[in-house]
Amino acid sequence: MGVFITFEGIDGCGKSTQIKLLDRKLKEKGVRTLVTREPGGTEAGCRIRQLLISTEVCLDKYTQLFLFMADRVQHLEEVIRPSLRNGIWILCDRFADSTIAYQGYGLGVKLELIENIHREILKDTWPDITVVLDCPVSMARKRLELRERAVPGCPSDVGYDRYEGASAKFQEKLRKGYLEIVKRSPDRAFVVDGSRDVGTVHSDIINTLKKRKLWPSET
Ligand SMILES: Nc1ncnc2c1ncn2[C@@H]1O[C@H](COP(=O)(O)OP(=O)(O)O)[C@@H](O)[C@H]1O
Ligand SMILES: [Mg+2]
Repeated sequence: MGVFITFEGIDGCGKSTQIKLLDRKLKEKGVRTLVTREPGGTEAGCRIRQLLISTEVCLDKYTQLFLFMADRVQHLEEVIRPSLRNGIWILCDRFADSTIAYQGYGLGVKLELIENIHREILKDTWPDITVVLDCPVSMARKRLELRERAVPGCPSDVGYDRYEGASAKFQEKLRKGYLEIVKRSPDRAFVVDGSRDVGTVHSDIINTLKKRKLWPSET
């Protein structure tokens, strides 16, 4: 079986950056990896993603919830489970905790409802480990501004389009939500201080993976 690693945190915390670095490192070690994301890890998911990121369409919190879940179940069936069975390590940019943070802590959907749906669709496919990158909201915003300037017209991720326009107060709720998630699932999730330089954050992630025995054995 492969190892299932998810990356979480508010937009601009450094998920994509850290995924790229870890992917490179694991490949150097001879591990077969697959980088994927939610929403949009499958054909159906790409179509669902378009709806979710469009700021022209108004989506109720439950509509959002069910669209994310539809994307997730498809992703699990088509990509995540078959890959893990083949020994491939999955590095997934956002997963179940994003729904708990955004639709739960952010928009007020009852956590119990989200958890019940997850129990039904994830079954035993929970991530082996979840990296929650944490940094101040103001810092994340500043990084996003720089990123947008560096790559004009670059397709932002879903959070940026639909939720970043929302207030800093909303982002604060998400940040607190993520920290709460780690408190509730300390065996699976851990917080990394993402406000430090890219290399330090990367080393921290590797050290935690090693500590939790989720690192390829040296041959
Ligand atoms: N630790 C860091 N320190 C400074 N800048 C960073 C750091 N991590 C990422 N960045 C930059 O911040 C921006 C957002 O990072 P990114 O990895 O795209 O975040 P996310 O995927 O979580 O939205 C990018 O331009 C990236 O180069
Ligand atoms: Mg990203």
